[in-house]
Amino acid sequence: MPELAFEENDFKKFSRYVYDVAGINLHDGKKELLKARLAKILREREFSSFREYYSRVINDTSGYELTLLLNALSTNLTYFFREPQHFDFLEKEVFPEMARSRQSSKDKQLRLWSAGCSSGEEAYTMAMTAFEALGPSAEHQIEILATDLSTKVLAMARTGIYKQEKTNKIPPKLGRRYFQKGRNRWKGYFRVKKEIREKVKFERLNLIEEFQFDKPFDVIFCRNVMIYFDTPTRQMLVEKLYRTLAPGGYLFIGHSESLTGLRHNFKYIQPAIFKKV
Ligand SMILES: C[S@@+](CC[C@H](N)C(=O)[O-])C[C@H]1O[C@@H](n2cnc3c(N)ncnc32)[C@H](O)[C@@H]1O
Repeated sequence: MPELAFEENDFKKFSRYVYDVAGINLHDGKKELLKARLAKILREREFSSFREYYSRVINDTSGYELTLLLNALSTNLTYFFREPQHFDFLEKEVFPEMARSRQSSKDKQLRLWSAGCSSGEEAYTMAMTAFEALGPSAEHQIEILATDLSTKVLAMARTGIYKQEKTNKIPPKLGRRYFQKGRNRWKGYFRVKKEIREKVKFERLNLIEEFQFDKPFDVIFCRNVMIYFDTPTRQMLVEKLYRTLAPGGYLFIGHSESLTGLRHNFKYIQPAIFKKV
């Protein structure tokens, strides 16, 4: 099949559209990546040009085409216990501090949010860490919301099933405690145990749209998501995350990200950890 021409105008139209709907900043350096990912869709679905596909996407009012496009364009790299310092801090500082402060309170629930959760490893790691810190009472004390833009990764996350090679970073003791090993046709796979899966609720949420929750969160992980956004989009997101956190709550961002250059009222605690004081 001859290579399809990806004109400068095609690049401009798609990158502007993706920026408008998802905040994802596809600058000039991302042109080849965008072309490769779109070309795959064109081949699979037998569109004859990028222009024809673009027209299908923008004229579809059902949201179906947009979802497929964003599924194809999002970068979903993640793994269990990624940036382990965060989970140490959560286990040794945040959970004990919050459990103490709730002792005399009627509302003992701790609410956590994995914003931009990809295939679920981050949210499940938060749940395992809660059980390690709080013991069996975690079952009644924590609830975790995990959200992403991509319906494809959310569907994977909900199963809680991972190939063995995806579980390499899990400390063996926790692997034995919180995972079931697949047998027969599931050989080579591991499944997160039910007690952990039940603590996490997965939902689709676009972080650049307005969002509101009934109750504020005590902990938000929004890691390795803002790297795809430009400064104005990050600024808006950080303000929304601040509003969504309870006083005393913590925000965790990726170690390769920073709040430098943004206006915010967070207190810096340690690298990539901030507190709403
Ligand atoms: C690299 S993954 C990070 C996963 C996890 N937080 C971690 O640090 O391992 C980035 C995720 O952000 C999601 N994402 C990108 N833009 C988004 C948006 N506008 N709203 C919600 N999620 C978004 C992508 O779909 C992707 O799954």
